[in-house]
Amino acid sequence: MCGIVGYLGFQDPKKVIVEGLKRLEYRGYDSAGIAVIHDNKIKTVRAEGKLKALEDKLATENFNGHLGIGHTRWATHGAPVEKNAHPHRVGEISIVHNGIIENYLDIKRELLDRGAKINSDTDSELVAHLINEEVLKTQNLFQAVQKTLGRLVGAFSIVVIWEKSPDELVAFKDGPPLIVGLGDKENFIISDVQAALQYTKNYVYLEDREIVHIQNKEVRYFSADAKPIEKKVNHLNWGTEQIEKMGFKHFMLKEIYEQPRAVAAAIQPHLNPETHQIEIKNLNFKSSSKEVFNKIERILFVACGTSYYAALVGKYLIEKTSRVPVDVDVASEFRYRQPIIQKNTLVVTISQSGETADTLAALRLAKDLNTHTLSITNVPQSSIDREAEGHLYMNSGVEVGVASTKAFTSTLALLNLLALEIAKARGHLTVAAENQAVKNLLAVPSQLETVLAFDKYFSEAAEKLKEFKGFLYLGRGVSYPIAMEGALKLKELAYLHAEGYAAGEMKHGPLALIDSRMAIVVVAPTDDLIEKTVSNLQEAKARGGKIISIGTGENEALKSMSEYYLSLPVADWMTNPLIATVPLQLMAYHLADSLGLDVDQPRNLAKSVTVE
Ligand code: G6P
Repeated sequence: MCGIVGYLGFQDPKKVIVEGLKRLEYRGYDSAGIAVIHDNKIKTVRAEGKLKALEDKLATENFNGHLGIGHTRWATHGAPVEKNAHPHRVGEISIVHNGIIENYLDIKRELLDRGAKINSDTDSELVAHLINEEVLKTQNLFQAVQKTLGRLVGAFSIVVIWEKSPDELVAFKDGPPLIVGLGDKENFIISDVQAALQYTKNYVYLEDREIVHIQNKEVRYFSADAKPIEKKVNHLNWGTEQIEKMGFKHFMLKEIYEQPRAVAAAIQPHLNPETHQIEIKNLNFKSSSKEVFNKIERILFVACGTSYYAALVGKYLIEKTSRVPVDVDVASEFRYRQPIIQKNTLVVTISQSGETADTLAALRLAKDLNTHTLSITNVPQSSIDREAEGHLYMNSGVEVGVASTKAFTSTLALLNLLALEIAKARGHLTVAAENQAVKNLLAVPSQLETVLAFDKYFSEAAEKLKEFKGFLYLGRGVSYPIAMEGALKLKELAYLHAEGYAAGEMKHGPLALIDSRMAIVVVAPTDDLIEKTVSNLQEAKARGGKIISIGTGENEALKSMSEYYLSLPVADWMTNPLIATVPLQLMAYHLADSLGLDVDQPRNLAKSVTVE
């Protein structure tokens, strides 16, 4: 977690770094800070809390220069207070750090034995001490950093500046992402391309254990043992509108409204609108995708958070259409339970950011076990994308709101395609069924538009939800993971306790929770399980349960038992999850907004979780 910006160029570094940190605040917002070399002196300003507090402090500062580093923090070691905010200054050195130094206790002991004065509770400051000791000996920043790296154990990215060298930045990555942005007479070192998107579209992605050394306008790359290496420059075609709110009150609201376009962008490259056939493009498996899909005997999804719920939808879609057994694992569990991966298993990692530490570790484990891997990511060239064998892209554009929305529905669309493609490869899909499925998918963007047009009803429903203290979100079949995702959205945004439950499990415990302050939000679009869901609701209603339901068209049975009924357009069972998600997102959004909460940056959370 944490966001890093390093800058060397002709602009005021304060301005460039603060702008960059704004784009990275989704990575953490416990504190922020900046260090700039001005008149051969390092000037540091740090503030507890969100970036705004730092901006307020900087408003009265006049220093500028042309080199600096900045940081927005998600606290790991040490409380979120100013003394623990980055950059950390020790002697002639200042550093920003993202990640965790696992051997920090050994280093700390050693430094204290040598009489070092330690000012913060962070592991990061200790690294600054080590580099400072080295630079005093060598008078060479690159050598000092390179020598220190051998001492560190953990997962970390760091950027370092040296007071005596106002035209030099050295950075190293071993874990959390670090990207070099190559501008015109200016260069950037950043955690995510968003931080420099308004200045350049050319990026170099550092791999683990690589060092970048920027001196004046020269950018050079090295392995950890200081051997020069060549790096590929990637050109990114993203416009800056991706990182603006474009008139919406929040990024999250904008991203919810972008879903028709995002879903279309996810599926279009793989659909032939004339033949109504699926042709998944550029999966890039080592052998042909048909061969892989034919041969596999099991699929294993691994993901975290919202991506995990998308994976659960994938299980329903794939098992039913292609008859391949599918398991789904939370990445943090998968990686430590010595998972059994038989021959011919396809491991699919889903990650919007492509950087979630647990998901990345799970992917690496799967690769070590010599199995086929496929990543579904939104960020091309992210770590998970780079390391997986096969690739599918959400194409959602930048997602800024910490709670994932458009990446979720885009993933559901891709999982529809994947399920159909696997079914096709295994002879389980007739041409007629394929044509129909493609038509169903092509209809989703306009169905999403229709649902979005009902926003005022979701906002009204959100008002109703305010009366309750607890929430059960129910669904059956493919709607069950959607109910879980709806409950997660409410927790993340409105800080209210909500649980997603399989509707059929109500009688095995949750019925005991029902009273007048417990709301039941049910996801019940018309499918072959709708009658069973309605029966489960009767049981809850008979015990005084208050129901808010989401159903297809005018479902009278559902309507008659609900306090509030929200209507969805008619869709297929495979595409229902996409449209049923929108009311849940919008209800959580409106409820949180009306409670005055920060929906784009919910407390204690971060978008890209690059620590385990
Ligand atoms: C964090 C975010 C969630 C997200 C999860 C997984 O917890 O707050 O919104 O679903 O990480 O992120 P990923 O980038 O791997 O999909």
